[in-house]
Amino acid sequence: MAGIVTFDELGPVGLVCIDNPPVNALSHSVRLGLVDAITRAETSPGIKALLIMSSGELFSAGAEITEFDHPPVDPTLQQVQATIESSPIPVVAAIHGLALGGGLELAMACHYRLAHKNAKLSMPEITLGIIPGAGGTQRLPRLIGARAALDMILSGTPVSALDAKANGLVDEVAEGDLRDTALSFCERLLHDGLGPRPTCNHAFVGGLDDAEIAATLLSHARALKGRTTQNLAVEAIKASKLPFAQGIAIEAALAQKSLASRESLALRHLFFSERDAGKLAGLSSAKTKQTQPPAIRRVAIIGAGTMGTGISMAFADAGLEVLIKDNDPAALTRSREIVQSTYASSVRRDRITQSVADERIRRIRSTIDLAAVADADLVIEAVFEDMELKKKILLKLDSLLPPERLIATNTSTLSVTELAGATAHPERILGLHFFVPAHASKLLEVVRTDHTSPESLSTAIRVAKLLKKNAVLSRDAFGFIGNRMMLDGYFREAEQLLLEGATPAQVDTALENFGFAMGPQRVSDLGGNDVGTKARIQLFKRESRPNPYFVIADRLTEMGRLGQKTGRGFYRYEHGSQEALPDAEVIDLIEELALDRDIRRREIKNEEIVERCILSLINAGAMVLEEGIAARAADIDVVWTSGYGFPRYLGGPMFYADTLGVSHVLERIRDYHEKLGHYWRPAGLIEQLAAAGSSFEQWDRTAASRY
Ligand SMILES: NC(=O)c1ccc[n+]([C@@H]2O[C@H](COP(=O)([O-])OP(=O)(O)OC[C@H]3O[C@@H](n4cnc5c(N)ncnc54)[C@H](O)[C@@H]3O)[C@@H](O)[C@H]2O)c1
Repeated sequence: MAGIVTFDELGPVGLVCIDNPPVNALSHSVRLGLVDAITRAETSPGIKALLIMSSGELFSAGAEITEFDHPPVDPTLQQVQATIESSPIPVVAAIHGLALGGGLELAMACHYRLAHKNAKLSMPEITLGIIPGAGGTQRLPRLIGARAALDMILSGTPVSALDAKANGLVDEVAEGDLRDTALSFCERLLHDGLGPRPTCNHAFVGGLDDAEIAATLLSHARALKGRTTQNLAVEAIKASKLPFAQGIAIEAALAQKSLASRESLALRHLFFSERDAGKLAGLSSAKTKQTQPPAIRRVAIIGAGTMGTGISMAFADAGLEVLIKDNDPAALTRSREIVQSTYASSVRRDRITQSVADERIRRIRSTIDLAAVADADLVIEAVFEDMELKKKILLKLDSLLPPERLIATNTSTLSVTELAGATAHPERILGLHFFVPAHASKLLEVVRTDHTSPESLSTAIRVAKLLKKNAVLSRDAFGFIGNRMMLDGYFREAEQLLLEGATPAQVDTALENFGFAMGPQRVSDLGGNDVGTKARIQLFKRESRPNPYFVIADRLTEMGRLGQKTGRGFYRYEHGSQEALPDAEVIDLIEELALDRDIRRREIKNEEIVERCILSLINAGAMVLEEGIAARAADIDVVWTSGYGFPRYLGGPMFYADTLGVSHVLERIRDYHEKLGHYWRPAGLIEQLAAAGSSFEQWDRTAASRY
């Protein structure tokens, strides 16, 4: 514990410094250290003001999340804050980097605040399904006003130091050295005789009437669809007009309630799952031969189509030099135009500045010469989905690049094992399965074959980190994790429901109401029905599936109803519009296909649609686990929430299965098995977990031993 919080006397100023790498979390030892330091300052006669700072890259990322599930241990953050607020000498916080959640709550309990001009301040608790529980909902409104506080708490996004100064959250912005500026600030306080200024004594700023609450909730409605935490935040902020002690007691009760909510359990599950995805016992550094992993600075991409272009922007965004190669000069020109218009649109939306856009565009160079990629640290192949073409390119790359460099394929349907087997160094070949749009999607499936070396895998995971994507390891199998579950579970069942009597709009709306960002038929129309049909052609070359299997989508492809790009698919679209309009021709087609298969059509309730689609997704997920394609149920949850629009607040399909109870899931699957036949066979893993009274979460705890 020693050294976690240090105390130095700098003339009349006591300097307290938090040093708890990597993020200065306010763990128990930090809290103890803070109370000790404050007590020392108060008992040192020469100390007239106290300055709280942190070392490292940020002020503090807030509470230690692992402590959330345990009873609080004294001194709690609230006790530390009370000690600060009641201190007889002024206490100043100086913020650099980030002050998040509890970190900002600590700063708000100080009597004065400074921030470096590059610092950012935020209350991100809502992203974990909780509300600030250390006075944030009571002090923030006293500093910046109730409406602004509600907005900041509901958005969970950071405000800049300059904005924080403008709204009263900080007193001064440091342009130069933060410590020097903060020390002069303290000296000025002492010179001007300004003493403690407890935030809890500030008068409540501004009212918050129902219309303002409704308007603020509405402005966050999209991000908070299906969520409930915001209602608790509103209650807590409303309580800030009460005397502080009363307000803080209400906040504490509401914060407890948020912590115990399903939503929070689900979101915290994802927080840890995303952090741990890509970490596997088999990949520990001890098992890799790398002492100093090779730096990745230059990346080459082969194929400048939809994926290659998106991937090139993903790397340019991360600050890497990119060389994109295509053998068709027109494809390179198109790719460049897309890059330019994508960045221009980001500038228009104020996401990046023009100079950042220019810099990113500059980082992407193009070539038609394959040999030019020889000095890349990593090459990603993203040419047409053609086995022989890809083999030829990988073989050539294998001969061009030194054997320790990673070569990846972005194939979505071909066997990575077969592709790797075509080279002399299959240990450095793996799949990097990006999702559309590749520069924005958070998901990256890293596909390993039996020959992929641990060094290659850990490099791939480092690459995902550089790109700020969630890397999930998948074994090589058709569709990897996500598409396999989509085809064999979710989308397949949606089609079956259409044959049995539901309409595309009914299925989509039911699943959107469940919480999916977009229903399955709308997704198919957006991506193109031909994409699925082509994938299934590859599937049938490798594996068989019971009939009927996507007969509607494949017939739509045959008819040229490819989706939005042709103005017709499962729906019809007016010229230039993305609004999905029902189309009687599609209903006729579905009826005809059902009749051909002796499927009796009937009225189907929305509950049945949701239950069948979600249960079949869970069942397909359990099969992916028992086949060893995914290592952990939590990895599946990351795949589905970061790449397929499954609602985050339900934690992902496997977490949701645990919420329902695995025995209940099995009972319902068995019921459908009896009614609908063989394709509803329950996964052996579900039977095994139900028999043992276990859960996917418990099963995950033994994941390390399986890999
Ligand atoms: N589009 C998706 O939804 C998606 C998603 C994930 C993965 N993928 C996979 O990514 C890969 C590329 O898909 P896409 O949608 O970008 O295809 P695309 O048709 O848009 O682009 C392919 C590009 O490869 C180029 N190319 C062909 N032969 C080449 C060669 N010998 N050398 C260099 N370039 C060559 C073509 O000129 C074209 O520009 C495929 O393997 C596909 O399965 C696609």
